[in-house]
Formats: sequence, C-alpha cells, structure tokens
Amino acid sequence: MASAWWPCLILALLSSLAASGFPRSPSRPLGKRSLPEGVANGIEVYSTKISCKVTSRFAHNVVTTRAVNHADTAKEVSFDVELPKTAFITNFTLTIDGVTYPGNVKEKEVAKKQYEKAVSRGKTAGLVKASGRKLEKFTVSVNVAAGSKVTFQLTYEELLKRHKGKYEMYLKVQPKQLVKHFEIEADIYEPQGISTLDAEASFITNDLLGSALTKSFSGKKGRVSFKPSMDQQRSCPTCTDSLLNGDFIITYDVNRESPANVQIVKGYFVHFFAPQGLPVVPKSVVFVIDVSGSMHGRKMEQTKDALLKILEDMKELDYLNFILFSGDVTTWKDDLVQATPENIQEARIFVKNIQDQGMTNINDGLMRAISMLNKAQEEHRVPERSTSIIIMLTDGDANIGESRPEKIQENVRNAIGGKFPLYNLGFGNNLNYNFLESMALENHGLARRIYEDSDANLQLQGFYEEVANPLLTSVELEYPENAIQDLTQNAYQHFYDGSEIVVAGRLLHEEMNNFKADVKGHGATNDLIFTEEVDMKEMEKALKEQDYIFGNYIERLWAYLTIEQLLEKRKNAHGEEKENLTAQALDLSLKYHFVTPLTSMVVTKPEDNEDQTAIADKPGEGEHGDPTARSMAYLTSYQPPQKPYYYVDGDPHFIIQVPQKDDDICFNIDEEPGTVLRLIQDPVTGLTVNGQIIGEKGGNSDSKTRKTYFGKLGIANAHMDFRIEVTPEKIILGNGAAQSTLSWLDTVTITQDGLSVTINRKKNMVVSFGDGVTFVVVLHQVWKKHPVHQDFLGFYVVDSHRMSAQTHGLLGQFFHPFDFEVSDIRQGSDPTKPDATMVVKNHRLTVTRGSQKDYRKDVSFGTKVACWFVHNNGEGLIDGVHSDYIIPELF
Ligand SMILES: *[C@@H]1O[C@H](CO)[C@@H](O)[C@H](O)[C@H]1NC(C)=O
Ligand SMILES: *[C@@H]1O[C@H](CO)[C@@H](O)[C@H](O)[C@H]1NC(C)=O
Repeated sequence: MASAWWPCLILALLSSLAASGFPRSPSRPLGKRSLPEGVANGIEVYSTKISCKVTSRFAHNVVTTRAVNHADTAKEVSFDVELPKTAFITNFTLTIDGVTYPGNVKEKEVAKKQYEKAVSRGKTAGLVKASGRKLEKFTVSVNVAAGSKVTFQLTYEELLKRHKGKYEMYLKVQPKQLVKHFEIEADIYEPQGISTLDAEASFITNDLLGSALTKSFSGKKGRVSFKPSMDQQRSCPTCTDSLLNGDFIITYDVNRESPANVQIVKGYFVHFFAPQGLPVVPKSVVFVIDVSGSMHGRKMEQTKDALLKILEDMKELDYLNFILFSGDVTTWKDDLVQATPENIQEARIFVKNIQDQGMTNINDGLMRAISMLNKAQEEHRVPERSTSIIIMLTDGDANIGESRPEKIQENVRNAIGGKFPLYNLGFGNNLNYNFLESMALENHGLARRIYEDSDANLQLQGFYEEVANPLLTSVELEYPENAIQDLTQNAYQHFYDGSEIVVAGRLLHEEMNNFKADVKGHGATNDLIFTEEVDMKEMEKALKEQDYIFGNYIERLWAYLTIEQLLEKRKNAHGEEKENLTAQALDLSLKYHFVTPLTSMVVTKPEDNEDQTAIADKPGEGEHGDPTARSMAYLTSYQPPQKPYYYVDGDPHFIIQVPQKDDDICFNIDEEPGTVLRLIQDPVTGLTVNGQIIGEKGGNSDSKTRKTYFGKLGIANAHMDFRIEVTPEKIILGNGAAQSTLSWLDTVTITQDGLSVTINRKKNMVVSFGDGVTFVVVLHQVWKKHPVHQDFLGFYVVDSHRMSAQTHGLLGQFFHPFDFEVSDIRQGSDPTKPDATMVVKNHRLTVTRGSQKDYRKDVSFGTKVACWFVHNNGEGLIDGVHSDYIIPELF
C-alpha cells in the first residue's frame, strides 16, 4: 500500500517567493533618489510568476522571480520557495545580467563534497529549515552588483494524489513586498474531463480578490489565474506592505464516468483507477493507543476527543476494539465487538475514562491487537467479506518489554503475515519515526506524523476518515504480460473511497493495436473485475491535442512513481538488495533530473574566485527531533572544486595536488645544473614539456647546500609542429620553420589553431592548447646584483583534463587519479614538521609535513601550500627513479 495511490495529506504544491532577509519598509522610501514602489533596502522584486501545468495529475511548476538592485552597492538577494515534500525539484537556474547559470543534478555524495568543501573554507552556507507540515523550503541567495538584475527560476514536479475525492495544489504565497507583476497561472489538462475546479486563498476572501482571480473549466481544460495589481496587493489602501501571505489552494476532480482512465503516450502508459458507487466493505478496526505518562495533558485530551468523534462516524457493520498500552496492556473488550449504538455508547464512556500512566510497551500492545484480529477471522466472529486494520498511536519509543525496534518489527511482521495493514501514527517529535514508518510499510500500511498543535485532534480524525471507507480489498491490476515491462506497484490491500490507484509502465512494443487492463478486487458483496480496453489509434488521436502542454509527461510520471516506490522499498531493505534499489533509484533520478534523497542540484557560477554554488537537497524524514528542521537547500558562496594543479617551482620543488584527499604531496629533484628533466610527455596529444636546471651564480657544487632552479623550459606539440622555448630573458615561439622571439616586457596574446599564448609583462605566461590543457610559466626575477641567485622559472599545470591516460613525466604521471594513505603521524627530527608513514603506489614511505609556495597569484611572496614531503628525489612516489627522467636535449 505504498504511496502510489495513498491520498496523502501532502498534496501540496506550495511555493513562496520572497526577497527575504530585508527589513520590510513600512513606508515609502524617502531620499534623494525616488525609487519605484516595492523597493526594500534597494532591491526591487519586480516580477514573480508561478506557472503550473498539470497534465493527468502530473504537475510541472515553474517559479520565476526577477529582481533588480537599485542600491549603490552590491546587495544580497534571496529567493525562497516552499514546495511540497512529495515534489522533486527538477531544475534551477540563476541569471545575472543576462548570463544564465544552469543547475545540474548530481549524485549526492559528489555534490556534498563540494558543499562540505565550501563550508570548510569558511564561506557562507545557509542551512534552511522547512516551514510547515507539508512543505520544505528552498532558499538561494546571491550577491547582486549595484544596478544589476537577477532572475531565479525553480522547476519542480509532482504527481498529485487524490485525497477525499480531490486533487489539491497548495501554492505558498509570501512576496514580502509589493510586486509590480505578480501572477499565478495554472493550466490543467485532464483527458477524463474536469468535474470540479476551485481556487481560494487563505489570506483574503474571493470577494475581495475580485477581478484578480479568475477560474474556469470546460471539458478537459481548466484554468486558474491570480494577478493582483499593486493596489490589490496592499494590506490597506495607503499601505506599502503586501497582504499576500498564505496559501493559495487549487482543488479539482475529474469525471469518473469517462472510461478514459488508461493513457498511453510515446511507449509509456498510466492507469488511474478510482471506481465510483461501490458499497463500503465492513471493517474490523483495532485502535492501539499509547497511554504512557508522556501522553499526559493536552495530547491525551486531543486523542480522546478524536476517538470520540471517530466513534460517531463508525458504521454499524463495523467491528472495533481499543487496546491501551503503557507499561502493560489493557483492552476494552476481550474480543472485537460490533459497532451497535449500545456498544458505541459504552465505548464512549470507556474512552472518556482513559488514564495516562507509566512506560511504553509498543510490542505487547500490537501483538495483542494482531492476535485479536487473527482470532476473530479464524473463528468467523466477523463477517466473511470484512477487512481488518490496526491503527496504532504513540508519542514515544518503546522502553519496556521488548524494546528493540528490529525485534518488534520481526514479531509484528510474523504475526500479521501480510493479512492486513498496520497504520502507525507518531504523535509529536519525541519518537523514532523511521521505526514507525518502516514497520508500517512492511505491513502494507503507512506512517503519519501527528503534529503537536491545537488541531492534533483534527489530524487524527482526518486520518481515520481516509481509511474509514474501504471499497475493495486485495486489489490487483493486471496487464498483458508479454506486452509491458517496468510496471510500478500493481497490488494493493485496500482501495479507499476518495483515493485513487495509479499504475504506470512501459510498453514492450510501441506498435500495439489495443491494450487491455483488468482490475480484480473483493467488494463488500462479491468479487469484481473491471476490464478496460484501449483502442490505441483512438488514444493517439485523443491525446495529440495535449502534447503541446507537456510532451513526455507519462514517461516522467512513470519515472516519478518508480523512484518514489524504490525509495520506499529501500527503507526496509538491507545489504545487496538495498544497494540495488539505491542504484536503480539513483540512475533514474539522474536520468530524469530529479532532486531526490539520493541526488542534489548544484549550480555553479563559473568565474574565478567569486563562484556561487547552490545545492538543493532533499532530505529524508528525520529520526528523532523536529521534522520541520529538514534542511532543504544550501547556498554557498565559494570557489568550485578547482581542477587539480601540479607544478614545479623554486629549488625544483614538485607539488602534486591529490583532489581525493584534498591534500598535496611534494618532492625535490636534486641534479647537476645543465640537466634536462622530462616533466610531461603525452604520446596521444603529442605534448611534451621539459625543463633544464640551472645553478647559482658562481656555481656551488655542494649538492647539500646548492640551490637549483629551472632556467629553461621547452613546451612542444609534435602534432602541431609547434614549440616554445622559455627562459627568464625571452620567449621563442617556433612554428615549423618559422620562429619569433618575444620579450617578458610584452603584454600580448597570440592565438592560432586553438593554441593560445598570453604573456603578462614581467609576471607570467599562460599557454593553452584548446579547452582542457593550460600551463602557466611564472617568471622569478631577482635583484640584478644579487650575489648568488639568478632569475628562474616556475611551471604550473592548471588544467590537464584533456591529456591522455598515457601521459607520463615527473609531473605528467600524476594527472591520473591516484590516492595515498597517511598514518602514524609522529614527531620528526624538526619538531615543527611531523613525520608520517605514507602508503602510495604500493610503497611504504616515511614522509615529512612541510610547505611549499605557489607563486601563480603573487610572484613575490607566493601562497603557502602544505604538503607531505617525499624524501630522496621522490623515491617510491615517482615511477622508477629520478634519473629515468633525465633526457639529453630540451626538444
Ligand atoms: C533548466 O532550465 C533552463 C532555463 O529555463 C533550460 O534552459 C534548461 O534546458 C533546463 N534544464 C532541464 C534539464 O530541463
Ligand atoms: C538488481 O535487481 C534487478 C531486479 O531484481 C536485477 O535484474 C539486477 O540484476 C540487480 N542488480 C544488481 C546489481 O544486483
């Protein structure tokens, strides 16, 4: 009885837009410049549009907000949307001054690393709280330069579930300032035809909304539009704050007499099943109620109040009983009794006298209920065609008797044996909701949280109403076996009045002439079969007209439903099965671009230094604690994961960044001046980089104290017949036989055939071979009259992702992903530089923590880079020995 059809309370589709974080301006802004109305703290949100397209219950919603910064300085602009917990975000884009930064759905672990990195760098990361019972909040903030415009666009999708005879969409509206163009627009297309459609707002009566709200429907199409002018948005005629603050709710239902409840588009089908006019199946219901001490006070009163209301609604054919558990278990009656007026009267007295006390023995309470229902069926004490349910309410964790959750689950599962559903209601937050949910799901029921609030009694009652009227039991939806695949859940223990069963799948062959679906179920008086035959040609014709609304909506609906069911199954799976379910759900989430609990949306603004990354996350329902504190979205402002860098600079210090570890390894090569070392060689791209070592002025020959540097670099691309020779004096470009010489005093860019060479006067030279290979050569100039040092070069690989896996050389061999482990960090010979044991490339080495400098940004002082230093010319880290990299010539 998965949520495929369950008429969840969560039908909401809410969104709110706000330029939040700004103080509201109670009066018109004063000042020299006259700003338009609706400007708060310099930010004008001039347009907000919520566009909903619903096709066959599948809702596709786009929330777009546009703002401009009128202030003289950069300001932070926030975008908040509240969306239903059951919805999946599918897209988010940020447009700043006409440049769009798209969102990408990534596997959560990958996205999370980026997020954590951002946090560890101390940049802002906003963790957002969900605001309501049905909603979670998405928030993004960006810094917008003075005079700049920003557009946020969020897209989310959801299958609307039928609940008490209606599909419901909640749109949370909260602009917090007057908005020049504010609009909600919903277009609904239902092939079965629309039977009712309504829209209302919690913040104002429809009369007052007047012309701002229009709603209409005819045949298959329905439309709701809400477009209040700025004056209509004012909380009073002279006010400048907005009265738009609350829920905008659209409800509708479809015609049931129409047989068109199987829809097939582009190889996918969906089957909506909600038969009308069936008599209610009598039921036996056992209420298993926690009366432990923690229920004391309002919770107990609200529970009693709800139970009394439920007793009023009991049908005379139903059977019932109450089981109360605290430290021990008491029952109202020894067996189930029929809901006759006399028994109901007696039950009322029993309920009124319930006392709270003691501990929480969930196991024994449930086991008593299960054996009572089993016995009643076995002994035929209840009508043959009746059905059973258990509704358990608790506000805490089991703490006496059998209190191990796994054991309770096992006991309950074995005792119920799949015969009837168990519904678990968790009252408040001080409980293990995952346990309740897991136990309910594995017994064909579901868990619901009852929020501790003044309406808790109504929440309880509302839940009962949903399950009060089973119309069918043991429902199975069958399709031609050799014609379909990838079917979603197609067997349900109960079909309840006012809900709907939805099954989707794929056709094996798109070229079918007809399609047949059978639904079998046990009714109140007899067994029923509903058969539906679909003429594919007719279907195609009928559905063509809706194509324009939302092309592949059935495929997406199928994907949504499949992911939802896989995630639910996953909650009770273990080991390999769980991995399998996770892998399948992840695949689909990535393929269909859904932000699910396994994926995140990452938006990156690809600019140096000031990058923005927003990560939208969908969390699971928490364990203990406040379910409203579900983090939904993070905003971070940080540098995106940089491409790993590799470089050699100074007394040749080689630095290798290892992104897997977010750490660096370094080593030196100590060789005679004049030696040429191979730094990079890639036989596939034809690129080579070699460097020649120079010594100090005067020629110190003691290798212990001698300093050496790179004095000449040769960069060549054999395929392009191109070479660059760089020294601290000049740069010689060779192209075939042609040759030109440039000076470090130039600032110049030369491009040719995807190659680009830029010289930044007296600083550095950037060489790019197309997109994917970039080197930087840094010029180090020392004081001309320095007694010992002379000018030298540093060589940095800042992008190597287009280089092949066969790349080698002292730097090039590290371009492939590799990893290392460091352990046993201990004091070294220098107390400020600990030693450690490193395992890398199957070698076990002693390494020393040290630091080197990165001179790309600041050639005079450099930036410190901490690294693990590998001794003896990189022995054990580099392939072979360092002398293997010595070559006779620069080219
Ligand atoms: C996301 O939205 C942008 C802007 O509307 C659009 O260009 C892009 O194609 C969308 N991406 C997906 C995967 O739908
Ligand atoms: C996952 O389960 C499916 C369906 O049972 C099966 O076909 C597939 O081989 C499994 N995959 C793995 C990796 O176990």
